[in-house]
Amino acid sequence: MFRKIAISAASALVLSTSGAFAESAAHIEDIPFSFEGPFGKFDEHQLQRGLQVFTEVCSACHGLKFVPIRTLSDEGGPAIPADQVRVYAKQFTVVDKETGEEREALPADNFPANTSAGAPDLSLMAKARAAFHGPYGLGINQLLRGIGGPEYIHAILTGYSGETKDEAGSTFYENHAFSTGWIKMPAPLTEGQVTYADGTPATVDQMAKDVAAFLMWTAEPHMMARKQSGFIGVIFLIVLSSLLYLTNKRLWAGVKGKKSA
Ligand code: HEC
Repeated sequence: MFRKIAISAASALVLSTSGAFAESAAHIEDIPFSFEGPFGKFDEHQLQRGLQVFTEVCSACHGLKFVPIRTLSDEGGPAIPADQVRVYAKQFTVVDKETGEEREALPADNFPANTSAGAPDLSLMAKARAAFHGPYGLGINQLLRGIGGPEYIHAILTGYSGETKDEAGSTFYENHAFSTGWIKMPAPLTEGQVTYADGTPATVDQMAKDVAAFLMWTAEPHMMARKQSGFIGVIFLIVLSSLLYLTNKRLWAGVKGKKSA
């Protein structure tokens, strides 16, 4: 019995890893992000670099309207000191809810929305898109590699071929990772576009990974706390099951003992 279960579990695993790429329309590279797996953690430095890419590049077209600016100083997130976050917030302009007038943003405000370029809000994008659906759309890959939202964002940012076409008054850019193959977003990243304070070389691949990790954090800022409580829950269930098993054994000891005697 146990062997049967083990064999079917093993074949499910093999299927789930081999099926993923076959199913998705485009090849989406699996990236071993630091936050994957049951004990994965966000890399504070990577989130800081990703924030820089978002601020200097993506925020020109995209909003982040569900993310409070103050959370940039949260432990487990980019962990930027509160006084620096106050300075950072000043670059954005928001409309004050009480006075209705425009003013500099405070840490208590959310990042501004931005719909000027017809670009979607990025707050939850890393969870709204998936790169790995397999096998057979069951999503078993989630257990092993996550749903692949950050991988999808990385693939979009690095998936441009350089071809463009004009259709119905809009320009489309060929992108291998986008569902239709043609996206309205011009390739946003070019080699060395930002200068990282920590000296990391700003290749397109590196910037794409950093901003993808940052957007995973905006979409799920409490992932680490959730994983931790999940782990404690599993330990608790193991202890509880062992105690129940032993209790059950002791309760039936009299009856079972007589039978075998
Ligand atoms: C020049 C404006 C512009 C810039 C800069 C820009 N984007 Fe976009 N982005 C767009 C537009 C427009 C769309 C909608 C494309 C479409 O639906 O065809 C889009 C769509 C997207 C999508 C969604 C794709 C999908 O599956 O629907 C993602 C993810 C994205 N952008 C990420 C980024 C990131 C990350 C950056 C910064 C590195 C960035 N964008 C910079 C204009 C921009």
